[in-house]
Amino acid sequence: MRTTLYYFTGTGNSLACARAIAAGLGDADLVPISSLRGEERVRVLTERVGIVCPVYFYTLPLIVREFIPRLDLSGVRYAFLVATMGGLPGLAVLHGEELFKKAGGDLHAGFAVRMFANYIAEYNVRGEGAVRAMGRRMERRVKEIVPTVQAERCHLERGWPFDRLLSRAMFALLGRKFVETARTRDRLFTADPSCNRCGTCARVCPVENVRLVEGRPEWLGHCEQCFACIHFCPVAAIQIRGKRTRLRGRYHHPDVTVEDIAGQRRVS
Ligand SMILES: Cc1cc2nc3c(=O)[nH]c(=O)nc-3n(C[C@H](O)[C@H](O)[C@H](O)COP(=O)(O)O)c2cc1C
Ligand code: SF4
Ligand code: SF4
Repeated sequence: MRTTLYYFTGTGNSLACARAIAAGLGDADLVPISSLRGEERVRVLTERVGIVCPVYFYTLPLIVREFIPRLDLSGVRYAFLVATMGGLPGLAVLHGEELFKKAGGDLHAGFAVRMFANYIAEYNVRGEGAVRAMGRRMERRVKEIVPTVQAERCHLERGWPFDRLLSRAMFALLGRKFVETARTRDRLFTADPSCNRCGTCARVCPVENVRLVEGRPEWLGHCEQCFACIHFCPVAAIQIRGKRTRLRGRYHHPDVTVEDIAGQRRVS
């Protein structure tokens, strides 16, 4: 049975995961969610549908939270969600279930896949070893996800009851505020004098939130917080809150290129 896999990604983890799942399923179309921003209603033309995206602030990215309820699921028999994350999936699967309900359907399977953590606003990126470990972990998880989806089994990784309690508390304390202010948190982004005016930050932004003024970036206040501009800048010139990120590394998935990220604005 054919599958439509909608994806959103900033640093490529979710795209790498979506590609591996599509390869495993054998008959899947990859569609970038940001290419459908202008569509009020998105008719799913296959009987199986999947969403692959990162976890942001213990939940799903705003662009995904707004996308799922716009899906017309009338022809869909089976829906699944794969949330890639750095170790704290929070309420991503539970919120996925709520969003599919809003679209008039059901989420049958929800997976939380631990990948490389890219939130350099709060911590540094880890080394090469961690990237290799992530690759192996992803392969193992994809080997579980693909047969589950093919068999159309119900499987919801909501976390243990204690984790859910903790996640609800973390979301209430921190996550909700971040989500509410996410779009304008780009006011904390600045470009150092080392910016070489290459324009990569504007190219990779999946929602056209970066404008180049005399070759240097300015942010427009409708940010998804995907961090693509920050991580793909070839000279690490983009900082969050001034000095905070200057000494931290940058990351993107080794199999994902600037072109791949820039391609999210187009239907593939
Ligand atoms: C704004 C932001 C918030 C994040 N919040 C979380 C989080 O709550 N829990 C977590 O485990 N990882 C969190 N992360 C890490 C990402 O979920 C993780 O690195 C993900 O695989 C990135 O996917 P991508 O490469 O497809 O963009 C966050 C990353 C960003 C940029
Ligand atoms: S990607 Fe970096 S170097 Fe290139 S224009 Fe943007 S900030 Fe400047
Ligand atoms: S401005 Fe940067 S962080 Fe915000 S959506 Fe665009 S690429 Fe992502």
